[in-house]
Amino acid sequence: MSAHIIDGKEFSARVRGTVADQVKVLREKHGITPGLAVVLVGEDPASQVYVRNKNRSTVEAGMKSEEIKLPDTATEEEVLAVVNRLNEDESIHGILVQLPLPSQIDETAVIDAIAPEKDVDGFHVINTGRQAVGLPAMVPCTPRGCIMMLKDHLGDLSGLNAVVVGRSNIVGKPMASLLLAESCTVTIAHSRTKNIEDVCRGADILVAAVGRPEMIKGEWIKAGATVIDVGINRIAKDDGKTRLVGDVEFDSAKDVAGAITPVPGGVGPMTIACLLANTITATCRMNDIEEATLLG
Ligand code: GUN
Repeated sequence: MSAHIIDGKEFSARVRGTVADQVKVLREKHGITPGLAVVLVGEDPASQVYVRNKNRSTVEAGMKSEEIKLPDTATEEEVLAVVNRLNEDESIHGILVQLPLPSQIDETAVIDAIAPEKDVDGFHVINTGRQAVGLPAMVPCTPRGCIMMLKDHLGDLSGLNAVVVGRSNIVGKPMASLLLAESCTVTIAHSRTKNIEDVCRGADILVAAVGRPEMIKGEWIKAGATVIDVGINRIAKDDGKTRLVGDVEFDSAKDVAGAITPVPGGVGPMTIACLLANTITATCRMNDIEEATLLG
């Protein structure tokens, strides 16, 4: 039997619709327009595309969008000065500094300079720590999107065996922590894991976030498992063109899994939707508004 395909495009459109409704209430009832600032340093083409999409989605949701561009020769002090100005700006509720940064700039120093309540990426150690101990925190966008898709598809996740392949600070570690908070039994697998195929075969929920094209094969997957593929890898085709693939070999996986996210059109579109959702969360917390009451 072929797996149910979890449609991230459709789901992210629903999330963005909810965000737009929340923005309307914040503006009309509370007189607040949520504001998101994105800082781009340098000319990296992929980063330019991400930033353009983020700004477009922010404006479409009815929020204020501020884009700050600095040349790739910018110093750490110049970037920190921008972050400090945005920290003080009351019309800005979310700050995102696009990564990677040019090599002369210490990424950790920049992330740590962002006011934790405005850290819509959820990368600041204060947010990482608060999330780990179960306190209200800003949660990284991609893992937040994965959890939303999992709960939408499976409902209650408690007691399920979850395997996260990959241990990055941006996806693997926060993903494992969020799954634990949902009462899953969580394993993190990585490049040093022994018998990784067997570990994956134990998963009711398998999250692939390693950045290795089509590494996870259909025979690594338990029948009926839910597979979330975070990978976005561009590979060459025989005809010299390129195509996007995930970290999971989709064609073999779809015959075994119960449900699977495709690449493209799965997790990817959820990341920007969750960035907007995080900006709503930040705006509400900064203004002592109960987020759950926005839409009644
Ligand atoms: N570069 C690629 N993805 C991301 C992201 O989610 N946040 C930031 N800040 N930079 C990125």
